[in-house]
Amino acid sequence: MGLLEGKTALVTGGGSGIGLAGAVRLAAEGAHVFVTGRRKAELDAAVEVIGPGSATAVTGDISDLADLDRLYETIRSRGSGLDVLFANASVAAFATLEQMTEEHFDALFDINVRGTLFTVQKALPLLNDGASVILNGSTNVDVGAEAFGVYAASKAATRSFARTWANELKGRGIRVNTITPGPTDTPGLSGLAPDPEQAAGLRQGLAAQVPLGRLGRPEEIAAAVAFLASGQSSFITGSSLYVDGGLNQI
Ligand SMILES: NC(=O)c1ccc[n+]([C@@H]2O[C@H](COP(=O)([O-])OP(=O)(O)OC[C@H]3O[C@@H](n4cnc5c(N)ncnc54)[C@H](OP(=O)(O)O)[C@@H]3O)[C@@H](O)[C@H]2O)c1
Repeated sequence: MGLLEGKTALVTGGGSGIGLAGAVRLAAEGAHVFVTGRRKAELDAAVEVIGPGSATAVTGDISDLADLDRLYETIRSRGSGLDVLFANASVAAFATLEQMTEEHFDALFDINVRGTLFTVQKALPLLNDGASVILNGSTNVDVGAEAFGVYAASKAATRSFARTWANELKGRGIRVNTITPGPTDTPGLSGLAPDPEQAAGLRQGLAAQVPLGRLGRPEEIAAAVAFLASGQSSFITGSSLYVDGGLNQI
């Protein structure tokens, strides 16, 4: 028996990286997993990887409230509510304070903060009592990495949301936690660099800062997501679980 037999889960940004690994793991633990993201081809491929009987893809943008309504209507029509919500979708980009533009700020806050907020708000009627909500954070909230100010601030907002929502939803037995990955080898991380050569340099530089001497693997973050999603973490709420190879700990 898996940890999530008979449960229903949603993973935003489930088409790649940590979201895809999370979806694979939640399905392996027995959940039926809905995945959403903007690119249909990635989502269709993800469903093949997760297992077509265990996954449903719904194309959409979490910063578009009509898309969220359509997503939740699809989940509602399955008739089992929602037991696990992994609000994982985010975007990242570099810009120093001096380079900052309105577009940079709006793009990151629209998706990472506003999108995450309405992803969870619009899930409320569907969330079953005892559900687990997991927000994807970042080790960047604790440090001042150059040119990552808006991304870090958006993730600090996410961390704060988890505390407030854990308080507001405790009466329904719904737990809300943040997962806090360190640098993890995903398309999103490599995509921060303008070309493959610089991406390799970025990955190498980040790995060298991690006490365990390497980047995280998406599956390692997914294992912690499965823990937070399941009853194994029944006394944990409002918390942040670091999966960072010791980066922010030592
Ligand atoms: N990789 C790391 O080192 C690292 C470290 C700490 C935290 N994180 C966090 O982990 C999460 C996943 O990142 P990742 O590294 O796995 O990156 P990724 O491979 O780029 O995955 C991000 C996913 O989010 C989806 N997405 C982005 N904007 C969206 C939107 N508006 N609506 C719906 N889906 C959207 C993307 O799909 P579409 O483009 O198709 O929409 C993509 O599938 C993010 O929250 C990130 O901040 C990553």
